[in-house]
Order: sequence, then structure tokens, then C-alpha cells
Amino acid sequence: MNRKSLIGAMLTILCWLPFQLQGAEEREPYDDRYCTTCHGADGRGNFGVQAPRLAGMEPWYLKRQLENFRAGIRGAHLKDIEGMAMRPMAAQLTDEGIADVVEWVGDWNYIPAQVTIEGDSAAGKQLYLQCATCHGDEAQGNETLGAPALRGQNDWYLVTQLKNFKKGWRGSESLDNYGQQMMPMAQILTDDDSINNVVSHINTLGKD
Ligand code: HEC
Ligand code: HEC
Repeated sequence: MNRKSLIGAMLTILCWLPFQLQGAEEREPYDDRYCTTCHGADGRGNFGVQAPRLAGMEPWYLKRQLENFRAGIRGAHLKDIEGMAMRPMAAQLTDEGIADVVEWVGDWNYIPAQVTIEGDSAAGKQLYLQCATCHGDEAQGNETLGAPALRGQNDWYLVTQLKNFKKGWRGSESLDNYGQQMMPMAQILTDDDSINNVVSHINTLGKD
């Protein structure tokens, strides 16, 4: 990844954040620079800084991740550079601020994600049978189980997160109830090929 651009984006945001937070207290609408500086135009994800797609994300999942980043339950592992970049962005949000962001992101248009990962999707389909229990047959997500939709997300981001779970960079915090359920599941994917294969299968599922 391009660390220089990630650090550059963080500095821009951190300089500008205090002004924005003042606005947030008055409950003015969020300025889209806040999130889209990193997460890309229309929240479609930005490979350069490794920030994933937000458009189309389930509100309950978006809310929980912002709360987890804020509480240091996610983005706390010292090796998780990208998670640590996201954490200060959530750290200063109030509950009201999170509710506003969730509502605002809910209005963004979903523009289909590009396929960037190559793999054997037939082999991935077999592997995915074990994922479907929680994430759904069509990777549509399952709110009751707390497992987010995977289809429609940037494929490179799914790959990174699976590797992070495998290494325990995500999901090992004691208060991370949902991440702790996912972490052992990532171990099913024994090597990089299986990760690419399962993500290639998820790519075939499209999005509504
Ligand atoms: C400085 C760049 C930056 C800014 C600004 C930023 N993010 Fe992030 N965000 C990231 C990165 C990088 C990641 C990937 C973290 C990881 O790998 O765990 C991320 C991850 C996330 C995730 C986790 C997504 C998932 O599928 O688990 C959510 C949700 C999120 N950001 C929401 C937001 C929102 C909402 C805003 C605005 C309030 C915002 N971000 C502002 C860089 C940023
Ligand atoms: C026991 C239920 C369960 C199973 C089985 C499971 N997951 Fe998960 N998964 C979860 C939960 C819960 C989360 C949300 C973790 C969080 O909130 O941080 C998650 C999160 C993820 C994420 C992060 C998504 C994001 O936007 O950040 C990916 C990628 C993922 N799972 C892929 C898989 C794959 C691939 C498999 C099969 C090998 C799988 N999961 C099997 C429960 C499960």
C-alpha cells in the first residue's frame, strides 16, 4: 500500500477535524471530505490508501465498526497500520455523530466494485460453504449473527481483512465479540490461494 498517501490523508483530516466537530455539535450535515478523502468518491473505496467501500454497507454493521474503532476494540493492533489510521477518525465521534454518519452514508449510491483479484472461483465456492452459515448463501450478510454482507465490497479489502483475521491483527481484542467469532473462521483458509479463491467466488455473487 501507499503509506505516504495514507499518512497525507490522515494529516489533512486531523488538521481539519476540529472545525468539523464544531459543526457536528451543532448537528450540521457532515461535509463529505471527512470520509471520502480516504474512502473514495461516492464512498466506493480507495485502493491507494486501502480504505474500503462504505456505499451500500449495512447500517448496523457500519455503526458497530465505528463504535469499535472509537472504543479501540478495532484498529488497536500495532501491526494493523490501516486499522490504526481509521481509529482516530472514529475516536472523536459522539453517538449522535455516528448516527448522523450512518444516515448520511445510507444515501450514497452504490457503484459496482471492480474485480481485481484472480482465483479459482469453483474451488472458492466449495470453501465458501463454511462461510455461508453466517454470511448467507449469497454473501448477503446476516444481521442476527452480526456477519456483514461480503458481496459488493472491494475484493482487495476482503483479502486484507481475511489475512488480518488470520494473523490476529483483527478479532483478537477481548471485547471484540464479533471479530472473535470470525478470527477462527479465517483459519479455514490455509494459504493465500484459498483466500483468493474464496474471494473470487464472492465476486461472482454480485450485489442487488
Ligand atoms: C485517513 C483516512 C480515513 C478516513 C478519513 C476515514 N477512514 Fe474509514 N478506514 C480507513 C482505512 C485505511 C480503513 C481500513 C481499516 C482496516 O484495514 O481495518 C478504514 C475502515 C473503515 C471501516 C471498516 C469497514 C469494514 O468493512 O469493516 C468503516 C466502517 C469506516 N472506515 C468508516 C469511515 C467513516 C464513516 C469515515 C468518516 C466519518 C471514515 N471511515 C474516515 C481510512 C479512513
Ligand atoms: C461463525 C460465523 C462466521 C463464519 C462461519 C464466517 N464469518 Fe466472516 N464474519 C463473521 C462476523 C460476526 C464478522 C464481523 C466481525 C466484526 O464485526 O468485526 C465477520 C467478518 C468478516 C469479514 C470482514 C468484512 C468487513 O467488511 O470488514 C470478512 C472478509 C469475512 N468475515 C469473511 C469470511 C469468510 C471468507 C468466511 C469463510 C471462510 C467467513 N467469513 C466465515 C462471522 C463469520
